Amino acid sequence: MRERVVSGMRPTGALHLGHYHGALKNWVQLQSQHDFFFFVADWHALTTHYADRSGLERSVYDMVVDWLAAGIDPARTTLFIQSRLPEHAELFALLAMGTPLAWLERVPSYKHTMAQAGAAELATFGFLGYPLLQAADILIYRARYVPVGEDQAAHVEVTREVARRFNHLYGGGRAEPVLAEPQALFTETARLPGLDGEKMSKSAGNTIAMREAPEETAAKIRRMPTDPQRVHRSDPGQPERCPVWPLHCVYTDGPTRATLAAGCRSAGIGCLDCKQPLIEAVQAQQRQWHERAENYLANPKQVHWMVEMGTERARTIARQTMREVREAMGLSY
Ligand code: TRP
Ligand code: SF4
Repeated sequence: MRERVVSGMRPTGALHLGHYHGALKNWVQLQSQHDFFFFVADWHALTTHYADRSGLERSVYDMVVDWLAAGIDPARTTLFIQSRLPEHAELFALLAMGTPLAWLERVPSYKHTMAQAGAAELATFGFLGYPLLQAADILIYRARYVPVGEDQAAHVEVTREVARRFNHLYGGGRAEPVLAEPQALFTETARLPGLDGEKMSKSAGNTIAMREAPEETAAKIRRMPTDPQRVHRSDPGQPERCPVWPLHCVYTDGPTRATLAAGCRSAGIGCLDCKQPLIEAVQAQQRQWHERAENYLANPKQVHWMVEMGTERARTIARQTMREVREAMGLSY
């Protein structure tokens, strides 16, 4: 039997290479062996962007198109939008009743955010509840696995605790627990630095979008800083000190990389020579994404329909779980 995997992503605008290599690439692989439920976490976006919702709808569908472009297959994957399933909110509310505040207050991402300047806007019930909403997303599908990066591991841990508590409080006398404890699935990901060598993120403004225009990709890579000690073309460099190198490690094959590294160390090649094959490799990958995306952009109805199909598939399962949850809590009157 194919084991169920659930994952979501907040719609934050066009996805970039960091999203692809950090998550999406693995999801595309997971969908062939697993029963994959994959959704747009638009309510989670509202936990931080509750005031300015401009562009939300656009971000939602841009992201779905990026997923499809990356190779997410709606025939295998159950693709949907969180806010289309009020069942998630119902489970969130019911779980909230018995969840100790301290479990949420001690989540590292919450503590970090609250410690930062300007956190007042995020001193909301919704933001505190972020991990509990995520728990509802996962538990409602009785997921076996949740593929996560390090930053999400604490959320899966809360989810497990919440499930255990629910089963303890309301599952008395049942052979099977009502809610299943999921496991974090740590997949191998490449951490792709951004154009400045720091983590690639939209807020840092150092991204290359998955569907960046080819000339823009070239311009961005050409502008990238290189080994700071390689000031002149005649100075030998060290790839280990160069922000471009981690991109080569993802995009360039071993033998070519060895040649480039040797050329860098001996000052046999200039930095633009070194960047050129990288530019071409990134553009080649983007070409494939552009082609797939064009197809979907020309048929927005088809994309809506795919999301519709996924939503209804998800709803069947979410409803079933909620029936059992209500019954366990003594609410089926
Ligand atoms: N918190 C996740 C993120 O920021 C998004 C998310 C919401 C999620 N619900 C989820 C991920 C359920 C996995 C499972 O990326
Ligand atoms: Fe970086 Fe390549 Fe220039 Fe060396 S030659 S500093 S690896 S861009």
